[in-house]
Amino acid sequence: MRIGMVGLGYVGLITAVGLAELGHSVCCHDIDKTKMVMLSQRKPPIYEDGLQEKLNDDSIFNKIKMEDEIAKLVAQSDVIFIAVGTPSSEDGSANTEYVRAVVLAIAQALCGVEESCKKTIVIKSTVPVGFTNEMNAFLQEKIANKVNVTIKFGFCPEFLREGTALNDFMNPERIVVGAEDDDTANHIGSIFETFAKNHIPFVYTNCVSAEIIKYTSNIMLAARVALINEIADYAEIVGGNIADISKAVGLDGRIGSRYLKASLGFGGSCLPKDVKAFSYFSKSSGLDLPLVQSIANSNESHIIRQKERITEVATLYGAKNILVLGTAFKADTDDIRESSAVKLIKGLLASGLNITISDPKALNNTQNVLGSCVSYASDFYSALNTIDMIVICTDWKEFTELDIIKLKQKMKGNVIFDLRNVLNRTLIESNGFKYYGIAN
Ligand code: UGA
Repeated sequence: MRIGMVGLGYVGLITAVGLAELGHSVCCHDIDKTKMVMLSQRKPPIYEDGLQEKLNDDSIFNKIKMEDEIAKLVAQSDVIFIAVGTPSSEDGSANTEYVRAVVLAIAQALCGVEESCKKTIVIKSTVPVGFTNEMNAFLQEKIANKVNVTIKFGFCPEFLREGTALNDFMNPERIVVGAEDDDTANHIGSIFETFAKNHIPFVYTNCVSAEIIKYTSNIMLAARVALINEIADYAEIVGGNIADISKAVGLDGRIGSRYLKASLGFGGSCLPKDVKAFSYFSKSSGLDLPLVQSIANSNESHIIRQKERITEVATLYGAKNILVLGTAFKADTDDIRESSAVKLIKGLLASGLNITISDPKALNNTQNVLGSCVSYASDFYSALNTIDMIVICTDWKEFTELDIIKLKQKMKGNVIFDLRNVLNRTLIESNGFKYYGIAN
């Protein structure tokens, strides 16, 4: 099928590459021309595991082309995906201005079409409930005079995790298609027919339900992480072991084992934003959803508690110089949006501590946000001679496999805060370090 992809961020780009791998021709557009230039030279504009390899693969790369003008993309596409950002506004609502701008640009392009044509627009961006139908009504009004043009709308949520997004795309657990009539639903579903052949479940529903499915999935995941972190905070005080607790609880098939790892708190561009947006628009529907509303607060309180623990221990040992390992919101990504580590660092700076940061992929992004308030170390082992305390925030392999002997030789102090519970306490302590995890 001839597919258009507007928006080449973490979602749009991976989806474009995945659709090309499924055999579709994908015509891409992004407002950021640099991204398009980089991609046309096979250079990934973001770090995502396996992306470079996919772009190096001619059978995929040759199916992807860049298009400067939305009108030309529209002319060349039967189905147009919209995957531009819907960032949080100040009040927590999802900012839909970029999606609206794309729909308007498509409408303007369609107004210039003389021949008869039928196109389907699929929203992939996470949008407020009811938004797809609103955009449909908006566009139909704009092209009301164009009897030669038929446009259908759908909403097709994505469930890709950064860091494993390409694998997630090719191995989905379900495909959700929101549409208002069977023909449109089947048309969108046929894009993913490879997965139907592989017996992946398809859920066909209306656009509103598909939009709610997207939010519910992320809210569930956020709630699990927030809850296990609350339990971990309590277990830490009373001497419980959160790994054992998570393991045992997760063995209950009704609960399941995933998203039960204690951490510094969930972050990223999706979970925090979607929890806030859902709270916001449920309120504007006149409904209070106390459980949903408490998730974000729980997560923030957890980060503050960790900050307080660290500052207390820093005072205890006279530690002033802290090395934070990891600012990416999780391993295998360069993304620091809503990173709990960055929030923690801001708190530690406010407490007067000196911070040095290391991250295998996120240093540039971190520098753009924290600038000269902190120091940066691309090779953290070489920065250890002034470091009193290490704080592990992100579960990068490099940090889960720390070279203890090297640490012992080079580090000035001997305190390690492991906010991902990735180190072996016995090994660390037997090498003379003071070890603090979260209930482990
Ligand atoms: C999330 C969802 O998992 C995807 O299904 C969804 O498509 C995506 O949002 C989106 O809406 O675009 P992602 O933001 O990449 O994906 O992050 P996750 O892998 O879900 O992790 C979220 C946060 O929870 C991270 O900070 C992670 O470190 C944390 N986490 C996760 C924990 O602290 N403990 C866990 O057990 C699991």
